Amino acid sequence: MEQVYEQHGLTTFMQDNLVALMRNESFAADTAFVTAFLANVDDDKDAAKMWRLHTFCWAARSAMAIEGDFVECGTYKGLYAGVLCQYLRFELLPRQFYLFDTFAGLPPQWSTELERQQANPGYQWDGVHQAVLDRFAIYSNVNVVKGVVPEVFDSVMPDRIAFLHLDLNAGAAETAALDRLMPCLSDGAMVVLDDFGRLEQKDLCKAHLDWWGRHGHTVLELPTGQGLVVYRKNM
Ligand SMILES: C[S@@+](CC[C@H](N)C(=O)[O-])C[C@H]1O[C@@H](n2cnc3c(N)ncnc32)[C@H](O)[C@@H]1O
Repeated sequence: MEQVYEQHGLTTFMQDNLVALMRNESFAADTAFVTAFLANVDDDKDAAKMWRLHTFCWAARSAMAIEGDFVECGTYKGLYAGVLCQYLRFELLPRQFYLFDTFAGLPPQWSTELERQQANPGYQWDGVHQAVLDRFAIYSNVNVVKGVVPEVFDSVMPDRIAFLHLDLNAGAAETAALDRLMPCLSDGAMVVLDDFGRLEQKDLCKAHLDWWGRHGHTVLELPTGQGLVVYRKNM
């Protein structure tokens, strides 16, 4: 099918469980984004996330108009954060970026057995924490924090948040993070949920629907599998 479209000069995007036909893919013409993307992807699996990374960078860039720091819960090797920092020239920004991770996979107290079975076998942890510290050492305003979300917020907690990326692959951990971080979210803060729309993450999706519903918000489900919320204090 891909070939048929391409023979007619029509675009296809068939990666990362997303089939999109005849789209402009305008992000591919954003030189700053493409440069940051190419400099940070390690392999085809990373590269397949181009559309998700575009969404993530778009939301972070939109948050530049909002007061507060940037936060990512679930960093692994730092793909998303690496693209964002290069794309926005984060070293020049008067704000902090906090990257929270156990650097040891999903902890049992904040994940289901199924979530751990789905996620943990895919990680390889040898030297990852040090590699992430090294990766972001050039950014004096990026803070790599090793610890369990949400308990880690007892020791490190931003005052105000303009941009929040939740990518823990565990619904209980993500909503527990929201319980702790919500008072710090600025009005208009951008919140990206990396796995909200993924079929294999039904429990995570339900946890977010419940949490955001209780807090007067709805989640925009994107074809990339992500969820997007613009946080409003008076909802
Ligand atoms: C899908 S990966 C994150 C991918 C990452 N955003 C990237 O740029 O590639 C999920 C990460 O969440 C971390 N994690 C899961 N549950 C956690 C928790 N409760 N506290 C801290 N880290 C957690 C895992 O260790 C893992 O590195």
